[in-house]
Amino acid sequence: MKVFTTRKMPQAGIDLLEAEGYKVTQWSEDRELTQEELIDDCKVADGILLSGRRKVDTAFLEACSHLKVISLFSVGYDNVDVAAATKFKIPIGHTPDVLSKATADTAFLLLLATSRKAFYHHKRIAKGDWDFFSPTADLGIDIHGKTLGVLGLGNIGYEMAKLCKSAYGMNIIYHNRSNNEQAEKELDAKKVSFEELLQQSDVLSVHANLTDELKGIFNKEAFAKTKPNAIFINTARGGIHNEADLREALENGTIWGAGLDVTNPEPMDKNNPLLDMPNVSVLPHIGSAVQETRDAMAVLAAKNVIAAFKGEKLVKCVNP
Ligand code: DGY
Repeated sequence: MKVFTTRKMPQAGIDLLEAEGYKVTQWSEDRELTQEELIDDCKVADGILLSGRRKVDTAFLEACSHLKVISLFSVGYDNVDVAAATKFKIPIGHTPDVLSKATADTAFLLLLATSRKAFYHHKRIAKGDWDFFSPTADLGIDIHGKTLGVLGLGNIGYEMAKLCKSAYGMNIIYHNRSNNEQAEKELDAKKVSFEELLQQSDVLSVHANLTDELKGIFNKEAFAKTKPNAIFINTARGGIHNEADLREALENGTIWGAGLDVTNPEPMDKNNPLLDMPNVSVLPHIGSAVQETRDAMAVLAAKNVIAAFKGEKLVKCVNP
């Protein structure tokens, strides 16, 4: 069996595949492969380990209908037409749970960095702009005891809520399709409408999958309803907020700050005005980027491939 990986993967996953006797070929260039290159490489593979933004759409599935599995190196699967893959009888694997804590840590890091303008102060020092101690200039916002509003209270949202509750005594509200009973019981979280989430949150943190329903849901209309001191955090997908509307809301004080690990498009342009705003912190989509988590993701993604090749149910499968 042959496995193609669209990026260089952590060795822990490759070792598992090779121990099964599979031949693994990795995309080794330091750039995202094109859709055409993806199709060409997949034509000679039995299964793939897919990382990055390349699309699994009908055109791809028609060209590569022989694939026995598409194993994503991510929890998100918004780049995959799952209904079409299911019609082609191709199982789609993904890597939830193992990255929840690391991704929540990134959201928490962005929250602290934004509330204390950490990235801005770092840049000030680098520019030689640290003259004296000022009791009044460039102050941040205290988040102790404030309200965290989570959009999408799944595993990652739960971990973020737990951090905010235990470290900062924050009140937790959330908007989700289903009730999260564990969060309600353990964190005293309250389910609210999207409107109430916008109006009541001091910190808004996005932990939802990008669906058609959520595309651009944080837009001008939504930001108009937030508290002027609110901080917006997005570690899920850049498509969930409208960047121009966010920038306008930050400029006119409709919202206080933003911490983004995801942007639209990615990578963010180096001249993007958001990068010059003191109350904005941006990271290059590093939510799960710690060695232990990446190893665990690679192992889970490899296990999904192995299960498919053996005709078994994937460990974590996206198809219904
Ligand atoms: C994920 O796991 O979905 C990360 O955002 C990487 O795509």
